[in-house]
Amino acid sequence: MKNKFIRTAIFLLCSLFSIGVNAQSIENEKYRPAFHFSPKAHWMNDPNGMVYYNGVYHLFFQYHPGGTTWGPMHWGHATTQDFFNWEEKPIALYPDSLGTIFSGSIVIDKDNTAGFGKNAMVAIFTHHNQKIEEAKTGLHQYQSIAYSNDEGETWTKYKGNPVLPNPGISDFRDPKVMWYEQGKKWVMTLATKDRITFYSSPNLKAWKRESEFGANLGAHGGVWECPDLFPLKSNGKTVWVLLVSINPGGPNGGSATQYFTGNFDGNKFVPNSTKEKWVDYGTDNYAGVTWSNTGDRKIFLGWMNNWQYANQVPTKAWRGAMTLPRELSLASVDGAYYLRSLPVKEISPSLKPVYKKGTVTIDKEIDLSAYAKPLDGKFKLDLSLENASDFNIILSNVNGQKLIIGYNKKSNSYFIDRALSGETSFEKGFAQKHSAPRLLTNKEINISLILDVASVELFADNGLTVMTDIFFPDSAIRTIKIQSKAVNKLSNLSLSKIDKKQLK
Ligand code: FRU
Repeated sequence: MKNKFIRTAIFLLCSLFSIGVNAQSIENEKYRPAFHFSPKAHWMNDPNGMVYYNGVYHLFFQYHPGGTTWGPMHWGHATTQDFFNWEEKPIALYPDSLGTIFSGSIVIDKDNTAGFGKNAMVAIFTHHNQKIEEAKTGLHQYQSIAYSNDEGETWTKYKGNPVLPNPGISDFRDPKVMWYEQGKKWVMTLATKDRITFYSSPNLKAWKRESEFGANLGAHGGVWECPDLFPLKSNGKTVWVLLVSINPGGPNGGSATQYFTGNFDGNKFVPNSTKEKWVDYGTDNYAGVTWSNTGDRKIFLGWMNNWQYANQVPTKAWRGAMTLPRELSLASVDGAYYLRSLPVKEISPSLKPVYKKGTVTIDKEIDLSAYAKPLDGKFKLDLSLENASDFNIILSNVNGQKLIIGYNKKSNSYFIDRALSGETSFEKGFAQKHSAPRLLTNKEINISLILDVASVELFADNGLTVMTDIFFPDSAIRTIKIQSKAVNKLSNLSLSKIDKKQLK
């Protein structure tokens, strides 16, 4: 008895010690983000199966546990309650005889339509059969399902897989499923090479083709992937949003996510505009979709990377991080609908202002470095500029590496320049300046920047223009300088520390 007690105590002490050491060393790894999700080790790409259930936000993700480059895909799993503190869980889905596990979604089957149990979590994903692809003797992508009755801890694959065989299309993947209440049926939005195909089902097992969209619309610089379809309200009116990731062909090169607004009647998506629109103009927000089971709220998260260099980025133990979760809403500009993305409100309690000024005149430069230094490259910077005119925010470190974020009046556009931001040599196109059109033409500009060690997220004009870029500085960003050519007025200038542990 006594022996058992001592053994248990030693075990607990050792575990506590190793957890401490582990957490410590992980946080100290070069380029490791503090509050964006990144796996402890190995390769990660797309977010998958994002679902909210019982107060917990689940994030599954494309995961290769065998290395730090893309390989046989599994579904990793992590959870959060506050979008800041993430807990990585055991791998959820492993490859099987039908193939590896590509991207897909999860729904909560409230009415037990599939027969796996009331409120079962049902994952709908693409099986990718590498052997068939290599042998070129058949079609290697088809849709399958799996279910969990213990909140995503353990999964059982359905015996009747695949539930949607391949009809003869080489790229046939990334099912995003939602419950379409008006028609009392499930709707699957699927990427089918250069277009989207919609399917419907009463039970998640038998799928019927409804229609297709987009072969001659939108950007087509690359294959269409990872779609999402959901309604948003704008002044009491329901507008449907269709997200489509494409690779390559993004506005600043490589992969990016475009979107369409329109109407969906359970059978067809009809766009109300043919303008090209992008969720994010930075180079590092790909394959993003929204959480399911969140009611009218739509919370989006993307993979903070780009296929152009994802396999080469200079992190060591792991490769890949996710963007901050963002709340999506609709705005109308010049008669067209646009998406507005802003960091979810849950992060607000974690922000602790270290500098705040109501109004301040800027004549050439404001230097916030004294306040930025202790924040160690993790902060939020907010400001409004009275008159839209050229300005730069220069973030730098002791190595003289810098990231420049700014606005150019002549082109009415925002930009992020990472040419001199640190390690860039791993890919020839990485050291570049990216730009994004400003949708508004009014005088006052407001922006928020969120920095987390090796990434910057720019939300301009209350989230109407968004840019996400990763960069790799050799040491933490500790200097912030705001520069303006013309004398101007800044208001609501604040710099905040981001404090992670806010959980009740
Ligand atoms: C998008 C994507 C998906 C696919 C997955 C494979 O980044 O190519 O289309 O399901 O990654 O990992």
